[in-house]
Formats: sequence, C-alpha cells, structure tokens
Amino acid sequence: MIADPVLLTRPPATARDGRIVAVASGKGGVGKTWFAITLAHALARAGRRVLLFDGDLGLANVDIQLGLVPAHDLAGVVAGRRSLAASVVHHQGGFDILAGRSGSGALSALDDAALDAVLAALRDAARAYDHVVLDLGAGIERATRRLSGAADLLLVLATEEPTSLTDAYAVLKLHLADASAGEARVVVNQASTPAAGERTYATLARACASFLGHTPKLAGIIRRDDRVRDAIRRQTLLLQRHPNAPAAGDVERVVAGLA
Ligand SMILES: Nc1ncnc2c1ncn2[C@@H]1O[C@H](COP(=O)(O)OP(=O)(O)OP(=O)(O)O)[C@@H](O)[C@H]1O
Ligand SMILES: [Mg+2]
Repeated sequence: MIADPVLLTRPPATARDGRIVAVASGKGGVGKTWFAITLAHALARAGRRVLLFDGDLGLANVDIQLGLVPAHDLAGVVAGRRSLAASVVHHQGGFDILAGRSGSGALSALDDAALDAVLAALRDAARAYDHVVLDLGAGIERATRRLSGAADLLLVLATEEPTSLTDAYAVLKLHLADASAGEARVVVNQASTPAAGERTYATLARACASFLGHTPKLAGIIRRDDRVRDAIRRQTLLLQRHPNAPAAGDVERVVAGLA
C-alpha cells in the first residue's frame, strides 16, 4: 500500500486541538489575509501565544498588509538556512509572524521535498505556540491543499458573491474527502448585514448537507466595514485602529467561539 504523504507528515494524532488554524477560501480577494491577521491579533489579545504563518506560497502579503520589511522569511526556513525561531518577527500587536516571499518564485511550485519542509516548519511552530494562524493562498492547488490538510481547524471564508460560494464549496468538498483532515468551519466575510450573512451560510450549509452529507459549522459572520479598508490602507491592525468597529467585534466573537 502506498502511504499518504499527508499522513506521513502529519503531527502525532493528539494534535486536533485547534493549534493550527488555517484560513482558506477558494476564490481570491475575499479577505483571507486581513482576517488571518486580525484573528492572530485577537487571539494574542486573549492571552495566547500566536504565530501568524504566511502560507500563501505564490503571492504572500501578510508583511505588506502590516507594512513590515522582514529580514527573514519562510524561504530561508525551507532552504534550511535558518531555524523557524530565528526567522520570525515579533509584531507590537503581541504575536509573531513568519513572512512569506511574494512573487519571487522561491516558494511557488515547490517540489515534494520543499513542501515537506514547509509542513515540518508548521509542525515546529505548532509545538512552540498555542496557535498557528495559517494564511493560505486562493485556489485549490496541491500545495494549498496539503497545507490545509495539516490544519487542526480549517476556516473557509465565503462572501455573498455566488462565485465565492461555489469556490468555498469546492474547498470544503476536497477537504471533507480527506478522512484524516481536521474540522472545517465557515466564516462569512463582508456580509452586508448579519441576516444576509446567515443566509449565505445557510445556502452553503444546505449544499454541503445535500451533496457531501456533512454540514460544516458556522464559525462567524464578519460584516463589511469601511474601517477594514482604512486599517489595511494604513497598514495597521483593525483592533488597534478601530477597536469598536463592527468587524472588530465580529472577529472577537469568532475567537470566543474557538475557545
Ligand atoms: N470585512 C470587510 N469589510 C470591508 N472590506 C473588506 C473586508 N474584508 C476584506 N475586505 C477587503 O478585501 C480586500 C482583500 O482582502 P485580502 O487581501 O485580505 O483578501 P485575500 O482573500 O487574502 O486575497 P488573496 O486571495 O489575493 O490572497 C481588502 O483589501 C479589503 O479592502
Ligand atoms: Mg491573501
């Protein structure tokens, strides 16, 4: 029997405790990176030791959204040049960041050995922190699927747009087909109202129940909020710049639900 490489690289079976929380979507541009940053910050504010791991291997941009120029990044860890601990930067928001390498090709099109090295870095991180928040690239490519397969909890972002919903469904379908994968839950982002967000979730949940025989839970609804755009434009954290914004409270509720 040929062993599943994902199983071989998975941490020991005890690890389904929400340590690695991956953020995926299928469709691009729905808010994964902003949500992963804000989730990491909210978890840090709740007293957890958190690493935000940029797992968008093609177009990493956690550092850009936060206005950082990191001296080291995931590419050095994968190449074996530096340890994970020596490659992270500490953000004043109270969490660490392992940056990616955008557009250089250094991390896109990784071969199996390099992808194994990324997964090993993720495992290392899961041992050193209470939570690793993994920002994934858009799409359902093999590398992204292997990273999401290593997560204890996969948060799949969807918006009200039909294309986002069908792409989120595709991510859930592939994830659920992997019997060894962790739980997947849905986050509706950029909801025009909480009720509209509930309807979006219900549509996706119905499709999953009918065709996949499983209803993923709702992790939360994040409202569309101009202060999100403002925080991103200023390369700051929403929970620092606009702590009372509706979207800030929505992310904090997601964190409360994860505990
Ligand atoms: N809750 C929100 N309210 C308003 N605007 C939002 C919200 N969430 C995300 N956005 C907008 O969506 C844009 C895209 O966000 P982001 O870069 O985080 O998406 P992404 O899914 O990571 O994209 P990619 O697939 O390219 O990695 C942001 O620049 C912001 O303008
Ligand atoms: Mg992104």
